[in-house]
Amino acid sequence: MPNPIIQVQGVNKEYGRGKKTVAALKDINIEINPGEFVAVVGPSGCGKSTLLHVMAGLEAPTNGRILLDGVDVTLISERDMPKVRAQKIGFVFQSFLLIEDLTAYENIEAVLWPSLEYRKEKQEAMALEVLREVDMLERKDHFPRQMSGGEQQRVAIARALVNNPPILFCDEPTGNLDSKTGEGVLKIIAGLNRDRKMTVVLVTHNEELVKYAKRVLRMKDGAIVSDK
Ligand SMILES: Nc1ncnc2c1ncn2[C@@H]1O[C@H](COP(=O)(O)OP(=O)(O)OP(=O)(O)O)[C@@H](O)[C@H]1O
Ligand SMILES: [Mg+2]
Repeated sequence: MPNPIIQVQGVNKEYGRGKKTVAALKDINIEINPGEFVAVVGPSGCGKSTLLHVMAGLEAPTNGRILLDGVDVTLISERDMPKVRAQKIGFVFQSFLLIEDLTAYENIEAVLWPSLEYRKEKQEAMALEVLREVDMLERKDHFPRQMSGGEQQRVAIARALVNNPPILFCDEPTGNLDSKTGEGVLKIIAGLNRDRKMTVVLVTHNEELVKYAKRVLRMKDGAIVSDK
């Protein structure tokens, strides 16, 4: 058996204090192996986004541990976290979250992790390569407002890939798209799992899209109620 690439151990997440406390995650334990494609489903408010944010180190759990590729992200300082995130994970959001003042190319360039190993030309080539991979190379100089939702999401996927992380987290990546466009975006994500062997964790409301995953975690009231 390979070592799990994602380990969630005894994780709880509470928002607020006292009587207003919301238990968004309750004693979550998950192990995901490299190359898995996992869907996370469940009703609105059950904790799907919270789980993804905590797994990705975007939010700290109230207690418990998260290991990504063997690294305990709950122990990493705020200063070092951006680098770990860049190395380990890509994140695709429902609302794309592209920077409006930057072109497609510049949105990707903006997240390239500066590393002494990479020369400027090499970094440029990496940004162009991921744009090509999502079939947006011809639109590289377009701004987000000049693109359709599906095109913006493809650029957002390219941005998630450019540092070549092993893990891709997607939170309702098709939620703002019509079903045909959404299916196209999901096919790209499935292709990254198949061809790049990326580990994919996909949150979706859409039972139609669950078919792309090989494992489904169902959540209810902050807990995982089924895993198969
Ligand atoms: N910043 C916050 N402060 C307080 N409560 C929060 C916060 N973020 C989320 N919650 C609460 O935590 C619970 C889980 O929220 P979460 O966003 O993870 O649900 P979700 O499953 O992603 O829902 P949806 O399908 O609607 O996106 C909800 O009860 C929500 O109200
Ligand atoms: Mg959500």
